[in-house]
Amino acid sequence: MEDDRELAPKIRALAEGERAALPLLCNAAAVLYQDMERVSWAGVYLLRGDELILGPFQGKPACIRIPLGKGVCGTAAREKRTLVVPDVHAFPGHIACDSASRSEIVVPLLDGEKVLGVLDLDSTELDRFGEQERAALEEVAGVLAGVLARGESLL
Ligand code: SME
Repeated sequence: MEDDRELAPKIRALAEGERAALPLLCNAAAVLYQDMERVSWAGVYLLRGDELILGPFQGKPACIRIPLGKGVCGTAAREKRTLVVPDVHAFPGHIACDSASRSEIVVPLLDGEKVLGVLDLDSTELDRFGEQERAALEEVAGVLAGVLARGESLL
């Protein structure tokens, strides 16, 4: 896909008429992985207690539990802000699920002030994620947080 601004509307459209969160998150991971170029991993972690637990994703198998405050994901969740990491080797505490990953973006899934989880994308390319990607993925995170915040069961 040429224009990342199409991602959120596409994911929003796929969520229409369906309230079960799990399949919607699965399709969102598929859209991000298929439509964005040079992305090696795309998915979500969901917050349960003080741990992020692996949710739907596309890419190589990943670590299942990340404590709040640890790694890029846990830091973004604790600080409730997007983290763009141009070089993961320069991020202290980065958790290397895939040793080929070189850059990463993590966007918190927020229901107001409440953290529901994070959206995480990796690339094997240095500095893959910039302002354009941040804006597009923050919009996607808003859609996914809306799906989760409805409080319906995952299935
Ligand atoms: N690199 C992440 C861990 C998750 S994987 O990238 C899928 C981190 O440091 O939190």
